[in-house]
Amino acid sequence: MKKVDVVLGLQWGDEGKGKVVDVLTPNYDVIARFQGGPNAGHSLHFGGEKFVLHTVPSGIFRDGSMNIIGNGVVIDPVILAEEISQIEATGIDVVSRMKISKRAHLILPTHRALDAASEAAKGKTKIGSTLKGIGPAYMDKTGRNGLRVGDILLPDFMERYQALKEKHFFQLRQYDYQVDTTAYEQEWFRGIESLKRFEFVDSEMVVNNYLKQDTAILAEGAQGSLLDIDFGTYPYVTSSNTLCAGVCTGLGVAPTRIGEVYGIFKAYCTRVGSGPFPTELFDATGETLRQVGNEFGATTGRPRRCGWLDLVALKYAVMMNGVTALIMMKSDILNDFDIIKVAVGYEVNGQKVDYFPYEADENITPIYREFEGWNCDICNVRDFEQFPQQFKDYVAFIEAECGVPVKIISVGPDREETIVR
Ligand code: GDP
Ligand code: IMO
Ligand code: MG
Repeated sequence: MKKVDVVLGLQWGDEGKGKVVDVLTPNYDVIARFQGGPNAGHSLHFGGEKFVLHTVPSGIFRDGSMNIIGNGVVIDPVILAEEISQIEATGIDVVSRMKISKRAHLILPTHRALDAASEAAKGKTKIGSTLKGIGPAYMDKTGRNGLRVGDILLPDFMERYQALKEKHFFQLRQYDYQVDTTAYEQEWFRGIESLKRFEFVDSEMVVNNYLKQDTAILAEGAQGSLLDIDFGTYPYVTSSNTLCAGVCTGLGVAPTRIGEVYGIFKAYCTRVGSGPFPTELFDATGETLRQVGNEFGATTGRPRRCGWLDLVALKYAVMMNGVTALIMMKSDILNDFDIIKVAVGYEVNGQKVDYFPYEADENITPIYREFEGWNCDICNVRDFEQFPQQFKDYVAFIEAECGVPVKIISVGPDREETIVR
């Protein structure tokens, strides 16, 4: 029986998961999302065009691939319908290429309002959420109040919707937060109608039947390991398990059925939203990374915080996910640096620490190791042997520290700008 391979982010999201899934899709028959929702923004570049996907799996553009939105995902019908119509405009028959789990939860217009109200109430301690209603939707899921995709087809769907909406209005009054959701609600019901064109499935059965038939499946993570609800920089995290374990609960796959785990990281580090980021740079170097790396959010357009690669955090993520192969992205962004730094340890309150601590806060001072930059353009390299020695040394150090090989290197946003070793 086949196993499910996994692609996931090892940092704070935006590592380049969309690109990697698009590159790997020709090796797979099925691509499945297992957690998160429209807080994700996965960019794909090919044929001179760019697409940003939020809920739709990144296999959608490849002929012959089936795409599954798993039970662990939360869906905003407005955003999903809009995304689908953009893909359909390119001539792709999305309905025949995508199935949606009946067990996936719906993000209501009032979940978005509650997200905004909660953030406003937190003031300076706000999470910096994407305001897509992710947290409130997962709260209703674990609180056992949520509405699921399968409910859309029930005769009392409208009553269930109204009851949940009333509960949300009550909560909004407690926040003293006023918002008119009428316009969004109209779009929401149009989105629901559009979703009815799709097959709503028991995705756990579909996935396990595919495995029995030796069909190759790739699970596509959203966000990143350091945004995981349990092991990320809580409370500055998202509301789902972004780690590999999320594949089991978010698709109904047994732990023994997990195959390769591809862990993606940027050659440096970014974060968007609030929360700890030990290697963040507040100087001109950070600004250079942001400008050269075009580090502005694919979902919200917010400038991303930038800093050096953090091997303490990376090793933690490798361990928690059982990563079997590393993928290094955006290597080209470091082309013009004389010195490249990497955090190899932390100092916390005067003590040396070599693991990612519970108290991941501003008291951390990273201990850096410096590398000589390669100072040349590597965008046209297509064979590992062609990389300059300084680049190879950088990769070798990361491999030695993490104990996992770097099997794919990305040197530009396009599909073609990829080196597989
Ligand atoms: P995701 O959320 O993990 O899919 O990543 P995003 O799409 O949010 O952010 C990654 C950004 O980097 C996108 O704009 C990609 O097109 C771009 N990108 C991916 N890989 C590379 C690379 O190797 N070099 C450069 N310059 N850009 C890249
Ligand atoms: P992809 O899949 C980067 C961040 C938000 C915020 C925190 C909580 O494109 O890598 P949420 O809206 O989930 O309640 O926000 O998580 N965040 C992301 N950061 N990439 C993402 O997705 C993210 N999804 C959420 O900025 O700090
Ligand atoms: Mg993104």
